[in-house]
Amino acid sequence: MVFLTKEEEQMLAGEEGLGTQKAMELLVYLAEKVFDAEKMLTCTSSHCLDFTCWEDELLESEAKIRTMATNNPRMAINGELWKKMGVPEKVKRKEEKIDHLYESLGLTLLYTCVPYLLGNAPRFGQHFSWGGSSGQVYCNSILGARGNREAGPANLAAAITGRTPEYGLHLTENRYGQITVGFDGFAFKDLSKTDIAAMSYCVGEQVVEKIPVFTGIPRPLTTEQVKTITYPLPVGGAVQMYHIVGVTPEAPTLENALGGNKPEDKIQVGLKDIKGTYEKLCTTSEEKVDLVIFGCPHCTYDELREIASLLEGKKVHKKVHLWACTSKPIKLVAERMGIVKTIEGAGGLVVTDTCAIMPWAYHPEIDVVATNSSKIAFFGSGLTDAGLLFGSPKKCIDAAITGRWG
Ligand code: F3S
Repeated sequence: MVFLTKEEEQMLAGEEGLGTQKAMELLVYLAEKVFDAEKMLTCTSSHCLDFTCWEDELLESEAKIRTMATNNPRMAINGELWKKMGVPEKVKRKEEKIDHLYESLGLTLLYTCVPYLLGNAPRFGQHFSWGGSSGQVYCNSILGARGNREAGPANLAAAITGRTPEYGLHLTENRYGQITVGFDGFAFKDLSKTDIAAMSYCVGEQVVEKIPVFTGIPRPLTTEQVKTITYPLPVGGAVQMYHIVGVTPEAPTLENALGGNKPEDKIQVGLKDIKGTYEKLCTTSEEKVDLVIFGCPHCTYDELREIASLLEGKKVHKKVHLWACTSKPIKLVAERMGIVKTIEGAGGLVVTDTCAIMPWAYHPEIDVVATNSSKIAFFGSGLTDAGLLFGSPKKCIDAAITGRWG
């Protein structure tokens, strides 16, 4: 049976309202029946998927969140551009209902999968409950905060109660590296960002759910490099945390990263593996491209700037859509700096609030999609009938201009 403090008992007894009671009931159920947790931890940060539960109870009891809490991009629509993106009105209405609940609870509505770049960044040793895959890996690995990949109801319950069950990566003994990863025949500094996305996807495939320890990745790393090492690991596999010796906070040395244990396995990634991943992620031999999409996870400011500089003085082919997905705050700065004008003047769209994978499912004429994201390439081919092409930003922009991949 999970130990509860007096305050947690009061929440469970309904003294904080019915909505909070339902949330605590779920956490106690998870702690006792699923995770075998001994106690609850104070949770300081939540990141919620588009999800409602106990909506009436939460609204009626005027419940409020107790953590820093943000939300993931919507699956289907964009605040301003949903019509242009071909999204049905009924989908928009459903998502407005979620907005209403989240607003009443007091979430910071960021609609992004990179909230760690925009103020929701738990600190070293703090506990969090996040939905989505890559943000949670970033918090564990780069920030040294502690949390597990959790489903929507658990994130919302943690936001409302400020508690999360103690299990998995909250515990020090579960955070040590298990498999070392080295590079064979190349240096990390020679990899482009797209190569990194392929390399990391390939490592995810090999380690599956174990904790990899990268050696041979030197400081300093850019924000975009770190983001690109992180996001493919839970796509190729189901990685929740990784270490980079000499870079990430729990890995000052290889010995620290492994917790003094011997590695269970040692992996060497070669250029052949990276090339093989590029080939695997291209699921069509079609040359005609209908959509070029960036921003999975959401584009940083520098990534938007790179897209703009590749488009400078050029025009997107009239039969091709070009979408760059990002968060509203980043778009705002990019607007100020003339970057949005360059992208949209060339015929692209800078889309905010939206998950980069789903909107094109509503476009029947989109058969072939080109992207620089190994996550879109993998999930896009599983979730839709479209053929996927994976390559560098330059190759994607060339395809947007000519309408052809090659
Ligand atoms: Fe973000 Fe959607 Fe990709 S939430 S990471 S754009 S799958």
